[in-house]
Amino acid sequence: MKTFYVTTPIYYINADPHIGSAYTTFIADVVARYKRFRGYDVFFLTGTDEHGQKVYRSAKKAGVDVKQFTDEHAKRFVKLWDSFDITYDRFIRTTDEKHMKVVQNLFTKMYSNGDIYKGNYEGWYCIQCESYYTDKDAIKKDGERLCPDCGRPLEYISEENYFFRLSKYTKPLLKYFEEHSDFVEPAFRKNEMLRILQRGLEDISVSRTSFNWGIPFPGDPEHVIYVWVDALINYVSALGYSTEDPHLYEKFWPADLHLIGKEINRFHSLIWPAMLLSVGLPLPKKIYAHGWLTVEGEKISKSRGNAIDPRLIVNKYGLDALRYYLLREITFGYDGDFSEKRLMERINSDLANDLGNLVLRTLAMIEQNFNSRVPKPSISMSTDESLKELALETIGKFFDAMDSYKFTDALTILWKLIKRGNKYIDETEPWLLAKDASKKERLGTVLYNLAEVIRIVALLLKPIMPDTSYKIYEQLGIKGWEDAADEALKEWGMLKVNSVIHKGKPLFPRLDIEKEERVIKLMEEKKGENLVTIEDFKRLDMRVAKIERLEKVPNADKLFRLEIDVGPLGKRQLVAGLAKYYTPEELVGKKIVIIANLKPARIFGLISNGMLLASEDGKHVKVLTVDDPEDEVAPGAVIG
Ligand code: ME8
Ligand code: MG
Repeated sequence: MKTFYVTTPIYYINADPHIGSAYTTFIADVVARYKRFRGYDVFFLTGTDEHGQKVYRSAKKAGVDVKQFTDEHAKRFVKLWDSFDITYDRFIRTTDEKHMKVVQNLFTKMYSNGDIYKGNYEGWYCIQCESYYTDKDAIKKDGERLCPDCGRPLEYISEENYFFRLSKYTKPLLKYFEEHSDFVEPAFRKNEMLRILQRGLEDISVSRTSFNWGIPFPGDPEHVIYVWVDALINYVSALGYSTEDPHLYEKFWPADLHLIGKEINRFHSLIWPAMLLSVGLPLPKKIYAHGWLTVEGEKISKSRGNAIDPRLIVNKYGLDALRYYLLREITFGYDGDFSEKRLMERINSDLANDLGNLVLRTLAMIEQNFNSRVPKPSISMSTDESLKELALETIGKFFDAMDSYKFTDALTILWKLIKRGNKYIDETEPWLLAKDASKKERLGTVLYNLAEVIRIVALLLKPIMPDTSYKIYEQLGIKGWEDAADEALKEWGMLKVNSVIHKGKPLFPRLDIEKEERVIKLMEEKKGENLVTIEDFKRLDMRVAKIERLEKVPNADKLFRLEIDVGPLGKRQLVAGLAKYYTPEELVGKKIVIIANLKPARIFGLISNGMLLASEDGKHVKVLTVDDPEDEVAPGAVIG
């Protein structure tokens, strides 16, 4: 069986995953699912990078034990990828004992073949990037030295280090690049690497002595191995290289694809291959360095506070919509802007309109006219033939684009077929055919062709929008989605006549973009520079209130009318939009938090006197309650 090994970078665990880490991980998941679909035995690796000064300092800053810090933070990544249905085969952590042993094995080899020597390092270091810089590389500003990559201040270090003879590999690497013209992609990223190689590589420091959060250097435990070389080795340690069970290594190495962001290309395309050459291992087949996502034109960073939490987006719009948007809208390889508005526009035009309508219109007509059974096609006319031809052509072109990681092209090609399907409906006018009993056979042919196009679309979407693909399969009444692979695309007409369809709900309800934008704006206004003073805060009279009664407001399906007890402030009526999220029984008797001095307002003819607090993330609404199992807190208690 053909094998395929794909990796993501292992993410630093000092920060929470954001839309950037999710981006690379989604792409890797799409590739893994696509290759499985094409019959490959796939190994998909992701994980976390846990050593080094940055992680060490973050743990210290948080005031927790470093090991405990890494355990907790690594869990957040695992949890997130699981909740996103990321189909990784292994999650590696660089603090795994096994990984640490493999790193030492590799170092011992590099040392014994003379590629590692002891020296003194004096120069600059960027903790954020975990990178060494010479004075020549550093940006000079106001007497300070700044990192040429991230712009943060550099620290001067002077310590005894081990060095790796990277310079020795300039020539072998140049040769390798020449002989493997697509080793690094996109081509403009390869050219950047070639320019560095042409200037000649310099030896690099590969150990640190001023702190000890790392893997001990074999035979010299005063030194810990430089975090980047420790991290790179994960790609082979995860497969069990140089352990008692190397069968995965034997099966999957060399990697078919290392997916990375452009800022870590040098490590992957120059340093990692040199290390592999040093120990005599084959080099990975491809390194793909993609661009950066920006948010409303700005670089994502913690300090700018624009690090979008992908969970919020997924809760609001769904996984498939986000996956689709990222692949369709951001040309893979280039920088691209993440815009929630563009995401909503794509949902409405491409998903609700083009795809959703094609499926809904077709299935509704099969339901009405053929008692929900896929009709039998008969005589084919020239419009039918051209539809079939386009469908078959689409499969080949889609695969070609996916094989060369041109995701935007792949989806554009697929949407041409979807749009053609909608146009075919307009041309063949099945609603008119349905009115004339003598045209039933023709109607059957038209609807069969449409259902078959939809089946093909669902299959091609399987790696990209798995939930949607599965739903369409179910709606078409086809079994075995899990195992569906490219054999199901061998020829036209594999949809079984007479299978029972289930029309179901629209796949993507249309969004009210204006309304959504108002919510986004509200969120924006609330965060950031809008600081309040303690005096501002004190003007709010926040209280504990007990819900005594509540009922639905007639003719307002979202609203509850609550009667609450606020102790010394008396009993009051409050109206809240909670009826979609709770039953009255779930709330009655609960102690909640209210703002008692909000100006009363009239809602649906009812006076609402105060406001209750609830959290909202686009999907879940949760009322804030006081945790009080012993019933000790009196209604009216002040909050502050
Ligand atoms: O560099 N746009 O980890 P890291 C697109 N531990 N992708 C982004 C992104 C953005 N704005 N921000 C981050 C490290 N990424 C090392 C890697 S590998 C042996 C060690 C993605 O947590 C992108 O893939 O800084 C980038 O390369 C990676 O996250 C960096 O993650
Ligand atoms: Mg980074």
